Amino acid sequence: MRKSIIQELLPAWASRLTPYVTGKPVEEVERELGRPTRKLASNENPLGPSPRVYEALERTLARSHLYPDSAGYDLRLKLAAFHGIDMDQIILGAGSTEIIHLVARTFLSAEDEGITAESTFHVYRLAIEESGAALQLAPLRDMAVNLTAIRHAVTPRAKVIYLANPNNPTGSMFTAQEFLRFLNALPPRVLVVLDEAYYDYVLADGYAHPLNELLSRENVLLLRSFSKVYGLAGLRMGYGMGHRELIEALNRIRLPFNTSRPAQAAALAALEDREHVARSVETNKRELRFVTDELSLLGIRFTPSVANFILIDTARDCEHDFLRLLEEGVIVRPMKLYGFPSSIRVTIGTHEDNEIFLEALKRTLAAPAKAGELEWIPHR
Ligand SMILES: Cc1ncc(COP(=O)(O)O)c(C=O)c1O
Repeated sequence: MRKSIIQELLPAWASRLTPYVTGKPVEEVERELGRPTRKLASNENPLGPSPRVYEALERTLARSHLYPDSAGYDLRLKLAAFHGIDMDQIILGAGSTEIIHLVARTFLSAEDEGITAESTFHVYRLAIEESGAALQLAPLRDMAVNLTAIRHAVTPRAKVIYLANPNNPTGSMFTAQEFLRFLNALPPRVLVVLDEAYYDYVLADGYAHPLNELLSRENVLLLRSFSKVYGLAGLRMGYGMGHRELIEALNRIRLPFNTSRPAQAAALAALEDREHVARSVETNKRELRFVTDELSLLGIRFTPSVANFILIDTARDCEHDFLRLLEEGVIVRPMKLYGFPSSIRVTIGTHEDNEIFLEALKRTLAAPAKAGELEWIPHR
């Protein structure tokens, strides 16, 4: 068959990509169902942002006609003081996702290799593939990122490694010590992107590392996000911290005005409200325990998590369970794309969210799963 013009134009690597599938937008599901829906699909903060964010947004909206500060001076200054580092060690992005892609665009080309874990945040592999570089995937061990397997995947062509800690979707973590050992065994010419999007939620011993020591190395970029504990996923703000030279290299490729004026103002306000962060972390701690206790009582298998989500193995087709739960008014994430065809990932919500989810899950699992039985749009 004759190729279309677009097919002719599209490079082979782009036609091979499996595009990122986002969590289902709550507005779309509510439109179809005609009633309120719980979104527990994208690991957002169920408490929302700090009330201070609303005030900051209101103040900044009157200046919407003016371009933002492309370098995000005020926010970087505050982040630098918060972390005890210099502001030229920080780069802002429209979510950490933008910085993940920026790293690949800056450092990877067709002759290179990028490495990540087999079942991890899908954006890493997309970033590697979009750069034209070869993708190396290292298998998990016991549902956790296997740093030894990652290290063994390093070849002379390897340039960038992406690691999520905690890992999404398994909720597992490695300690700061394990990471240091891994770094020390690695050729220093390989850049390691350590994505800590869920940093504040992790209360386990040994997780946090001395920042200055890590950032003195040229080959480490730490990523943090305002989308999770700070509750600003809809505004898009994340940041990277690294060696000055590394940040300078990324700034060469970064688009001007990549983060908006409202996002910068909101992030500044959110960062200041430590009480809201503490409340969010405490809520998650309590509710994570509630959900895991309930799942254990029900005899449903899950992977223990240190983050604000949990991977649940229903031993059935995850697409089916996802659609059944949608009909129940709960949006979760089917994990086939992440290599777990019988698992769903659910975000830890408010107590009410979690009770509604658990009841819906019980009803879902009580009904037989028939392949192809359900399809979106659901019947009313
Ligand atoms: C490991 C990890 N990194 C980054 C992100 C995306 O964060 P952002 O909204 O800052 O782009 C997510 C979102 O789910 C994630 O799980």
